[in-house]
Amino acid sequence: MSNAYVHGYHPRESERLQDQAGTLVELLHSDTSYPAGSTVLEAGCGTGAQTVTLARNNPGARFTSIDFSADSLKEAKARTDAAGLANVQFRQADIFALPFDPGSFDHVFVCFVLEHLSRPAEALKVLKTLLKPGGSITVIEGDHGSAYFHPDSAAAREAIGCLVELQRRAGGNAMIGREVYPLLVDAGFEAVHVSPRMVYVDSSRPRLVDGFTRKTFTAMVEGVRESAIASGIVQPEVFDAGVRALYRTAQADGVFCYTFFKGAGEKAGLTGNNVG
Ligand SMILES: C[S@@+](CC[C@H](N)C(=O)[O-])C[C@H]1O[C@@H](n2cnc3c(N)ncnc32)[C@H](O)[C@@H]1O
Repeated sequence: MSNAYVHGYHPRESERLQDQAGTLVELLHSDTSYPAGSTVLEAGCGTGAQTVTLARNNPGARFTSIDFSADSLKEAKARTDAAGLANVQFRQADIFALPFDPGSFDHVFVCFVLEHLSRPAEALKVLKTLLKPGGSITVIEGDHGSAYFHPDSAAAREAIGCLVELQRRAGGNAMIGREVYPLLVDAGFEAVHVSPRMVYVDSSRPRLVDGFTRKTFTAMVEGVRESAIASGIVQPEVFDAGVRALYRTAQADGVFCYTFFKGAGEKAGLTGNNVG
């Protein structure tokens, strides 16, 4: 799998994913629950930002968390060890060549991964084969087209557009959130439903101003400054003005909005014809 990962693997990016996970735990995970004894595959766990929450909230479930980055897995393992979690196993693997038998898991969890894949539909089909009949999948993705803010700024929109364009050039799709429903349906899942999770931030919510507007979204845009400029898709002064404008939305009279899309689906259960 040669897909470039647009955000990179440097410590600042890991910190950003932790900030993002910490800020969004309630919004994204409050309705994720796995019964005791169930097996869950977390595909593309990265540095474990979601793993810690999942494993802590579902102590009776057994998680297998995979990623193709050995460095990220090391960090994820350190994080779950530090949290005293013993219900997670990590494995280095590619989503498109997973070392598990068909029907190995009760549930699959995928968060902020499809956006980086050039073949997200195929990935979902692969993951479906690993589910037991009647098993479920949960997919969480963002959509950078859903970002709007006050004060509005053409430069900020252009800077965000750079991130979208770089991700497109790397084979991904930064606006995949709106496609979660059709992707799950096309992959053959049943009972598909998507719930949009809007993050609304104004200065009456200081934790979100810092954790989301500044340290998650704006930090992510800022993180592609060098590659955006090097690729010639933006002038440095426009990009910098855009980032300043995004930080400006974190001031007392600023507002920032973004929507995540959380989708769920099921693999068809056993019928009378194929039971036993
Ligand atoms: C944005 S990170 C998300 C990590 C984590 N799910 C989270 O929410 O913090 C995307 C992760 O997907 C992994 N990834 C991308 N393509 C992959 C593939 N084909 N197989 C396994 N991991 C992959 C990357 O290495 C990266 O760690």
